[in-house]
Amino acid sequence: MRSYLFVPGDSARKMEKGMGCGADALIIDLEDSVAPSAKETARQVTAEFLREAKGAAGRPRLFVRVNDLASGHTAADLDGVMEAGPDGIVQPKACGGTDVAHLAAMIAVREAEFGLDDGVTRIMAIATETARSIFALGTFRGASHRLAGIAWGGEDLSADLGSEGNRDANGHYTDPYRLARSLTLMGASAAEVDAIDTVYTNFRDLDGLAAECRDARRDGFAAKMAIHPAQVPVINETFAPTPEEIARARAIIAAFDADPNAGVVAIDGEMIDMPHLKRARRLMSRV
Ligand code: COA
Ligand code: MG
Repeated sequence: MRSYLFVPGDSARKMEKGMGCGADALIIDLEDSVAPSAKETARQVTAEFLREAKGAAGRPRLFVRVNDLASGHTAADLDGVMEAGPDGIVQPKACGGTDVAHLAAMIAVREAEFGLDDGVTRIMAIATETARSIFALGTFRGASHRLAGIAWGGEDLSADLGSEGNRDANGHYTDPYRLARSLTLMGASAAEVDAIDTVYTNFRDLDGLAAECRDARRDGFAAKMAIHPAQVPVINETFAPTPEEIARARAIIAAFDADPNAGVVAIDGEMIDMPHLKRARRLMSRV
């Protein structure tokens, strides 16, 4: 999973366009991109789309972003879409593992009610949208077997902090946002789930997006969220392992398989030890 494209939950047209754009996953949004007065329509449009789209060959994974637990809309969102069997639910404003466990229980009830297999619905948590949630980033481990990834977001966080902006004059995230980003990476790794980089809102600036993708991948993020179909190929290209990387990972794994008692081996004149093996296995798990 490299790319997650947001699609407003009241726009059947964008859902249709999203299906064919190459995204690994769509996040059909019932939260910020849908006005309060349009929530009920959006649930219906989303459920109808899910029922149709689930049968499409080679389709992206289909996630739905529900409203946060404090909004009072979460139960109605789940009641509206769970019957159609989304692959996963995206949880905004998640404050640590406790919130994920709470959502997981709500999902489990609907799976039983609608005759879905127990545990099939995954959760992706957006985990840095309030100041309070930053202090809970280390609590996701073991929260739920449904948890597949943890993403960070800087827009709601800046509203919570009262920041006038979240990037400096060079376009780089300022310290509070770099902290949120780094702790997301740590929290996701500690929980053994994917770390997912936040959206790049200037969707016409594909060079800026590519640079941010490269930074994210270098640091250990597995994927990035998108808001526009034009961003998807850039994200997919950056996050997909190259043939050279795959060949090298295979060579490292093969060298240790050939000598299971070795703590260190040499490949092409370079010392290769356990951290290299761990990285190689991780890369192969994404191929
Ligand atoms: N998913 C699928 N299709 C999309 C899309 C998306 N996120 N964003 C744009 N498109 C489609 C448009 O419908 C348009 O197709 P059409 O002319 O055949 O209808 C085409 O791509 C080009 O769109 P463009 O004119 O460049 O952009 P726009 O002005 O229509 O839309 C946004 C700009 C930002 C409103 C739109 O990209 C969007 O809705 N993004 C998602 C917002 C969201 O979900 N935010 C919440 C999470 S942060
Ligand atoms: Mg938001």
